[in-house]
Amino acid sequence: MNRKYRKTIIAGNWKMNKTPAQTKKMFEELKAKVGKQKWCDVVLCVPFVDIPAACKASRDAKIAVAAQNMHFEESGAYTGEVSAEMLSELGVKYVIIGHSERREYYGETDKTVNLKVKKALEAGLRPIICVGETLEQREFDVTAEHIAMQVKIALNDVPAEKMRKIVFAYEPIWAIGTGKTATAEQAAEVCGHIRAVIRAKYGARIARAVTIQYGGSMNAKNASELLAQSDVDGGLIGGASLKTEDFAAIINAANQ
Ligand code: PGA
Repeated sequence: MNRKYRKTIIAGNWKMNKTPAQTKKMFEELKAKVGKQKWCDVVLCVPFVDIPAACKASRDAKIAVAAQNMHFEESGAYTGEVSAEMLSELGVKYVIIGHSERREYYGETDKTVNLKVKKALEAGLRPIICVGETLEQREFDVTAEHIAMQVKIALNDVPAEKMRKIVFAYEPIWAIGTGKTATAEQAAEVCGHIRAVIRAKYGARIARAVTIQYGGSMNAKNASELLAQSDVDGGLIGGASLKTEDFAAIINAANQ
């Protein structure tokens, strides 16, 4: 974290978990557990159908609601898809773009990530752009190249004045849902590298203001050490965001 230059953001990614009733329950529990967060913003990325319940329940809580995906077109014949404008009208503030599960199971590419980022910004949503290497890429020592490519393509044609809306999440694919966390040094190195790629394109002033999260088996135990790294500005948390106690503990770690 570097509180002087950028906001710390703790975001839970529920993936395909929880019904609207369960959403309401967890928001109420969280509200009671975590007060006003001085040092970090709290975001919950919920399934589409849970968005109305989440927005209603978050009204008097300091929790922003996010979607986990969106389409890059405004409207049209795209059965089963949801547009940025639909999300924004419901009160959604953030949207995850290019999560590795979407890239792997639903054929998302760096190019569609870029189209989605631009459309999200147009609709006033803050994109949380996920990037990360596979275990094989790490072993071949091409992590830096792979991440640089993902970041550059995601930001293609994104104007400098929109950069304050952008959030990155570094999520090594080998660490997602595996219980295998990147070491604090590995997380710091790649988050620093993402910032360097942004700096090369937009300059130091813009790069130092971008929030870059770490994601991949982050939990109440390892959060403090990861967040102690100056380039790690928060977390995108899957498994540990499903239980109030666990998620609240991570939020508290970010507020120390
Ligand atoms: P995990 O998921 O915390 O369960 O590893 C993180 C993510 O996929 O965003």
